Amino acid sequence: MTRATASDQAREYPAFPMPPVCPFAPPPGYAELRSRAPVTRVAFRDGRRAWLVTSYTHVRQVLADPRSGSNRGDVGFPTIVPLAPHRPDKGNLVSLDPPEHTVLRRLLAGGFTLRRMNALRPRIRRLVDGQVAHLMRQARPVDLVDSFARPVPLLVLCDLLGIPYADHRLILRLIGAQVRTTVTAGQREAARRALDDHLRDHVTAKEQAPADDLLSHIAEKLRQAGTYDREVLTRITAMLLVAGHGTTMNTIGLGTVGLLREPGRIASLAQYPAEIPGTVEELLRYYSVADPVSRRVALADMRLGNVTVRAGDGIIASLLAADHDRSVFPDPGTLRTGHNARHHLAFGYGVHQCLGQNLARVILQCALASLSTHVSGLRLAVPERDLPLTSDATTYGLREAWVTW
Ligand code: HEM
Repeated sequence: MTRATASDQAREYPAFPMPPVCPFAPPPGYAELRSRAPVTRVAFRDGRRAWLVTSYTHVRQVLADPRSGSNRGDVGFPTIVPLAPHRPDKGNLVSLDPPEHTVLRRLLAGGFTLRRMNALRPRIRRLVDGQVAHLMRQARPVDLVDSFARPVPLLVLCDLLGIPYADHRLILRLIGAQVRTTVTAGQREAARRALDDHLRDHVTAKEQAPADDLLSHIAEKLRQAGTYDREVLTRITAMLLVAGHGTTMNTIGLGTVGLLREPGRIASLAQYPAEIPGTVEELLRYYSVADPVSRRVALADMRLGNVTVRAGDGIIASLLAADHDRSVFPDPGTLRTGHNARHHLAFGYGVHQCLGQNLARVILQCALASLSTHVSGLRLAVPERDLPLTSDATTYGLREAWVTW
């Protein structure tokens, strides 16, 4: 990625990241840039520069372009978490480019099909209902993030993978350190190693005693392909936990609070459950919590809108900005229950589009179904302005959200 030169320093580039100032609207700079310069240079605090893309059309274009590379080890890649000197990471789909990416993606895709996820729905619903029962046993007010949004995705992921949830505190701490922008490269690397050590034990146990779970399923697929490797399976498991937890947690937390802003909205979902899938799509669009996740490095010169992005330049495709593009979503700042926004980009676009999106949808749908059915009178226990946002992670969300009923 390009660093500022003396002539550049004379020019002022907008600063990146642009954290949201409130949970219910994208950073104001996004709309301004989209109308003026939808592909524009921005500057990181440390002097690095990258292109920020804010229009729906250009975000899709860049994510669909085979000249957009994902290798985090490439010097031009616009990293936002501190990285230790790069080691090739064969299990990390997000960081692979075709053809390696295509091979691993095909191998994993069978574990996340819509059919498979729908078959798991009753099981996921039971887990979510159990967590709602736990929430309701707490003294009110209750922190919805701590008692519901944070545990639910990890409960489901552990169950799906076939690893014990009993270690949740350790797992949450270690995956949290992978996505935090404020840790040092050394702290992040130590957490990565500790998570690998922990997960490797489970991977090894599955070698002795395979079961009917995703870890054993992926191990079998790797064996069939003749590429079984304990370290690769350990890394795949870690990647699934890191990619699947914070994103889903933040969408549950923000999504529930977004619906609570209008009294009766959650309760009406119990009455009209057919509206839940459309509501989930709208929440995914509205918040697009994985906003700065879709980053790339140009592998060759490419024309994007009216600018030329040079080989080696970093590119940040803002999913949140794209999902609030007025030319595609009229009235993007209004959360419209029942409005189907399925062509949103909250799960990204192109070859790296979210592998776990069918699973995420089922979890989110079960969360809304369970809360609306079992918690009558759910409401915020604090003023909206007191809802603290997390701004130190690769996805954004609520640090806490106190509710009562
Ligand atoms: C609301 C929840 C979720 C959101 C908003 C979300 C969002 C995203 C986005 C935007 C990408 C694309 C990244 C890029 O362009 O580089 C992505 C990729 C990915 N996601 Fe998700 N995700 C969610 C849940 C999950 C879950 C539950 C899992 C699975 C356990 C998961 C696993 C993955 C994986 C493995 C990738 C990498 C795919 C690839 O590189 O081919 N995600 N996700």
